[in-house]
Amino acid sequence: MNYEVHNERQKDLLIHIKTYFDLDRNETIFQKRNILKRVPFEGREYIVKSFKTPHLINQIAYGLFRDGKAKKSYYNSMKIVDFVPAPIGYIEFKKGFLLKESYFISEPFEYDFTIREPLTTPDFPNKTAIYHALARFSHQLHQRGVLHLDYSPGNILIKAHQGWYEFKIIDVNRMAFKTLSTQERLENFAQLWANDEDLSIIIQAYAKLAKIDPQEALSIALKASQNHKDRKNLKKRLKGKKVVD
Ligand SMILES: Nc1ncnc2c1ncn2[C@@H]1O[C@H](COP(=O)(O)OP(=O)(O)O)[C@@H](O)[C@H]1O
Ligand SMILES: [Mg+2]
Repeated sequence: MNYEVHNERQKDLLIHIKTYFDLDRNETIFQKRNILKRVPFEGREYIVKSFKTPHLINQIAYGLFRDGKAKKSYYNSMKIVDFVPAPIGYIEFKKGFLLKESYFISEPFEYDFTIREPLTTPDFPNKTAIYHALARFSHQLHQRGVLHLDYSPGNILIKAHQGWYEFKIIDVNRMAFKTLSTQERLENFAQLWANDEDLSIIIQAYAKLAKIDPQEALSIALKASQNHKDRKNLKKRLKGKKVVD
């Protein structure tokens, strides 16, 4: 077992996470590959993400020579605390040298919607203002040298305040930290799966902030977005699933 905790106050929650996580009273908030629950501890609630046990090759790789996803989520969060829900800690459980269970804990961010809702709801209120705010937030991340490698709609949480929007990114185990090229910055918007009109609003605002030519920026971003859709749709077709866009 190895773990790290930001504040000793939550050490007990971390060390006994399996017991706390499995309590019946917990609310499961998301379950696809991984399971996320809201877990109360000493009068507060935490978001606990339990990572799916990796397949054997990765149990070996994560157990021996690569950082696991829970650890990376925590380390990456600690590097960019302003941009993510407050990180609490991570813990890993190994059998021999194989990584089995792992958990990442953060504070809840009480968001109002993810970027998916404006992107998929035709008459979502204040769309333009939200897209401008997304451009600003993305630009700040990029200026800090942060590239979220899974910058997809469900990973961008938004809280609406009086007159401004607060953004947080989650699912941060895959990130790159480096000086970003214009190409990399613009390609980062491809996973949003935005339609051309919405992407155009986002990119125009971004180009202004990044002081790059808006026409050229849009053409790079549209191309990257279409490539991403084509690649994903091809995969879906091969699996016999329905495609959109
Ligand atoms: N700190 C948090 N505060 C509030 N909600 C969260 C938090 N972390 C995750 N969630 C919720 O759980 C969902 C899935 O989290 P995520 O880390 O993206 O898991 P996955 O890897 O399965 O996509 C998010 O879309 C969000 O609704
Ligand atoms: Mg996610």
